[in-house]
Amino acid sequence: MPEQGACTVVVGCQWGDEGKGKIVDVLAEDVDIVARYQGGANAGHTVKVGDDMFVLHQIPSGILHAGKRCLLGNGVVLDMQQFFQEYDALVARGIAMDGRVGVSLRAQLLLPYHRLLDQASESSAAEPIGTTGRGIGPAYEDKAGRRGVRVADLGNPERLAKRVGAARDRTGRRVEQFGATGPVDLDRAIDEALALGERLLGLATDTGVEITTALKAGRRVLLEGAQGTALDLDHGTYPFVTSSNTTAAAAATGTGIGPTAIDAVIGVVKAYTTRVGEGPLPTAFDPEMDERVRQLGGEFGATTGRPRRCGWFDSVITRFAAQVNGLTGVAITKLDVLDTLPELRVATAYRLPNGTVTESFPADTWSLTGVEPVYETLPGWQAPTHDVRRVSDLPAKARAYLDRIEELTGAPVQWISVGTKRNQIIPVG
Ligand code: IMP
Repeated sequence: MPEQGACTVVVGCQWGDEGKGKIVDVLAEDVDIVARYQGGANAGHTVKVGDDMFVLHQIPSGILHAGKRCLLGNGVVLDMQQFFQEYDALVARGIAMDGRVGVSLRAQLLLPYHRLLDQASESSAAEPIGTTGRGIGPAYEDKAGRRGVRVADLGNPERLAKRVGAARDRTGRRVEQFGATGPVDLDRAIDEALALGERLLGLATDTGVEITTALKAGRRVLLEGAQGTALDLDHGTYPFVTSSNTTAAAAATGTGIGPTAIDAVIGVVKAYTTRVGEGPLPTAFDPEMDERVRQLGGEFGATTGRPRRCGWFDSVITRFAAQVNGLTGVAITKLDVLDTLPELRVATAYRLPNGTVTESFPADTWSLTGVEPVYETLPGWQAPTHDVRRVSDLPAKARAYLDRIEELTGAPVQWISVGTKRNQIIPVG
């Protein structure tokens, strides 16, 4: 088994949907704590246990391993209604939850007016982002604008009423500006959400203290990212990004530990590329191939059900992800989806509209729309890989494809996933 550090970050290296849920679930077996550090119910982490499929939006994927402590860090925007729906659904499916979930006192609350604003702003925008409509952008706007409401505020009803009241009034005005009409009963929606406050306070903790203490006591921790590097607010294809820092450095700020506590960063990389929502996808397939791979890979959003756009493997973005995240290792996912393809293309660089060839990920998002990927073609292996459990048993052409991905990305491949089940994983080294 590849050796991980005591504190490991798992981060997406493309546009999200890389299969982080499955990798976190596999790695969670050897840790004591799993903590989410950013995002909210926009995420949809799919995990299969036996024949049971679970889609987790806010609760860390480690919850499916008995006894593991699962935390939501301060970097998360927490939708209490969605959170408890997910919590109760896990209980109903027989998952023992008592004492296992902790929520940072510093986490921001995502309230019904955030969802309303997200949807109103998207429907009136000249250039929509294609958000999940879960209120993520407005919740982080309130956080940065210092207007937000945090879990700790739930303990002080007076302060809570004041801050929520101000936000409610502001929302009314902004929704009007967007030319949309909100639900008549926004007040009732807010009351219903806040009614869950006491229950949430029962789970509140200081995640930084909890994780630091656990690490000092020799326990192991996994920090789980949501979305992916190209959706990072600073480093992604801005403005077609999510509203948080998805990259590995945010794991420290988003949980309350120091950056030197992190020992390893595992980048999750899909064996091809997908994207959901608006924004450029330089290696997009032609429509026929797009449909074929979407069906083979089940490439539909786990949160919204939207079809994901699919494309060839893009090493410009994974090399960039290796740099931004400081990857110490890579987990390649969904290799089996490519089993039937006669040949595979891998983008090694982009040719910019002015003819310049670059191996770097351009900062100007709009220039990405006009780039032409420089491709290398590799032969497909055209043999099933679902049942392979050792690298040496993979077809030689599949190994050659993985070797090339590793070389171009510049970080060692440590895991290869060949199916949705827990045991469909090949440890490397
Ligand atoms: P938001 O995070 O809902 O504001 O959406 C912003 C962008 O990020 C949109 O393009 C979404 O499709 C994308 N996005 C958000 N969450 C995920 C995810 O978990 N997987 C893939 N894309 C996501």
